[in-house]
Amino acid sequence: MIKNFLQLSLIAFILLSCNNPKEQQHISTDEFEHGAVVTAHPLASQVGVDILKKGGNAVDAAIAVKFALAVVYPNAGNLGGGGFMVYRDSAGNVTSLDFREKAPGKAHKDMYLDKDGNAITDLSLYGQLAAGVPGAVAGMEAAHKKYGTLPWKDLVQPAIDLAVGGFEITEQQAEEFNHYKEDFIKFNPKGAAIIKEEAWKAGDLFVQKELGGTLQRIAEQGRDGFYKGKTADLIVAEMSSGNGIITHQDLVDYEAVWREPIVGNYKQYKIISMPPPSSGGIAVLALLQSIQNYPLATWGFQSDSTVRAMVEAERRVYADRATHLGDPDFYNVPVTHLTDAQFNQERMSKISLDKATPSEQVKAAKFPGYESEETTHFSIVDKDRNAVSLTTTINGSYGSLVWVHGAGFLLNNEMDDFSVKPGTPNLYGLLGGKANAIEPGKRMLSAMSPTIVEEDGKLKMVVGTPGGSTIITSVFQTILNVLEFGMSAQESVSAPRFHHQWKPDRIDVEEGAISESIRQNLEKDGYQIHKRGAIGRVENILVLPNGRLQTGADPRGDDKAMGY
Ligand code: GLY
Repeated sequence: MIKNFLQLSLIAFILLSCNNPKEQQHISTDEFEHGAVVTAHPLASQVGVDILKKGGNAVDAAIAVKFALAVVYPNAGNLGGGGFMVYRDSAGNVTSLDFREKAPGKAHKDMYLDKDGNAITDLSLYGQLAAGVPGAVAGMEAAHKKYGTLPWKDLVQPAIDLAVGGFEITEQQAEEFNHYKEDFIKFNPKGAAIIKEEAWKAGDLFVQKELGGTLQRIAEQGRDGFYKGKTADLIVAEMSSGNGIITHQDLVDYEAVWREPIVGNYKQYKIISMPPPSSGGIAVLALLQSIQNYPLATWGFQSDSTVRAMVEAERRVYADRATHLGDPDFYNVPVTHLTDAQFNQERMSKISLDKATPSEQVKAAKFPGYESEETTHFSIVDKDRNAVSLTTTINGSYGSLVWVHGAGFLLNNEMDDFSVKPGTPNLYGLLGGKANAIEPGKRMLSAMSPTIVEEDGKLKMVVGTPGGSTIITSVFQTILNVLEFGMSAQESVSAPRFHHQWKPDRIDVEEGAISESIRQNLEKDGYQIHKRGAIGRVENILVLPNGRLQTGADPRGDDKAMGY
C-alpha cells in the first residue's frame, strides 16, 4: 500500500534528516526595535520585513509572506490549501480569520470506505480525491479588505518575482525534493516544476513559471484570479484527470469567515487563539487551565513531576478533542464547557501523578445537551505592535502530491483531517466521530493553534507551529517555556519537546526531552515512551519589558527571524 510505503519512507526520512535540536549551530536570539517576522524560510522572512519597512502593517506583511511561502516552501506554504490567522491590533482588539478548506459539494460521509465499510485511507491522503476546496486566496483577500494598507498587487508581486525569477533552494529542500521524486512522478504524469531528471542540490535555481502565471492572475483579479476563469478551469480539469470532485461551483462558493477567537486566562496572562474548526485554541487553553494549579516553575523544566502533569492533562484534553470538536457551522461544539477553568482543574484534581492513567480508562467528558504533518506557521509584529499569528497548511508534506497542471500549485490532502470512519485514525493517529464526520461544505477539524498572549493588556507573545496533532502540545510547551521557565524566545523554541495525544497511549519524545532517569521512573509507573524525530517548527516573537521584539526561529528547519 502506498500509504504504508509513504509513511515508512517519511519516518525514515525524518529520522535521517531531522537533526537533534540541541546540536543545531545557527541558534541566535535576535532583537529588533520596530518590526519582526519569523517564518519557515529566509526568503519569506525577507519579503515580510521589506513590506514592514515600506510602511505596511502586520497584515500586509502576512499576506506577502503567505504568497511568498507558496513559492519558496512548497511542502506547506500554499495557494491550494488553507489556514487560520489570529490578529490583535495595537489597541488590543482581537479577531480570527478562518480560511480552512471545505469538503466539496459532492463529498459524503462514506466516500473513503470500500463496499464492506472499511476505510481506504490512501484515498483521503493522496491524489485528487484527497483535496478539500482551497481557502488560502479567499483568506488573504478577506484579510486585505479588512486590514490591508498597501495595494494588493504590491503584496503579491514579491511572490511572482520569486516564482518567475526562481530562487536558490536550501540543502534541506534539495534532500526533500529528491526524497519525494518518485511520488511526484506517480501523481503528476504530465510533469511539474519540481520534477527534474538529475538530483536537486543545494543552490540550484527553482523556477516555477506556471505558478508565476497563477499568482499574476491573483495579483490582477484578486480572488477571482483563483476561484474563476483560467485557474478555476485548470483546477477542475485536474479533478477530471483523476478521481477529484471539486467543481466550479465549489470554487465560486468558497468564503473565508471571521470568527470570535478563543480568549481565556492563564494566571495573569490572556490567551488568544483559534476557535473551531480548529481544536487548537480550545485545547491549548484547556491544557493551560489543567496545569495552572501545579507548581511547574518550582518542579522545573521537563522534571519528572512536570512531565507527568503535562502528559495527564494532554491525555484528557485530546480525548475531549476526538469526541466534541468539529466545524461549528455544522456541529454544536461545547466551547464554554471545554474552556471552563473549573471543569479542567477539577478533573485534574482527581488524578494521580504516581501512576499513568491508561488511556483506555480516560473517556471524553460528558456535557449536558451534547452527545478529531506538515503545515507552516509565521509570526509577525509591526512597528505599532499589531500582531499576526498565522498557520497555514496543505496537511501532509506536499499535500495530496498533485500539482494542478498548468497552474503550478499543489492541492491539499485536508480531507484526511475529517474522521473518515469513527475509530479509524488519520495521518496523525487522531481519532474522531460524528462531530468531525464528512458533510458537503463542512470544514475538517484542525489542530492548528496560532496564538497570541497578552500580559497586563499588552502584547506579550506571538506563537504557533506546524506538526499535525503535535501542534497543540508544542504551543502549550512553548508558552510554558516562557511563562513558567523564564526562557528567551529562541530558547523556548529550541528546547526539546514531548507529546501525548490520548491514543496511542504513549509519550512521543524528541531526543533530549526526557532524561534517562526520568524515563526509567515514568516507565516503572506505566508510561510508554516512544522516541521520534523532530516535533514541530515553532516560531515565536516576544515583546520584552523594554518594548523590543525578541525572536525565536525553530532550528529544526531553515526557519529565520528577521526584523529592523
Ligand atoms: N492538517 C493539520 C491540521 O490542520 O491540524
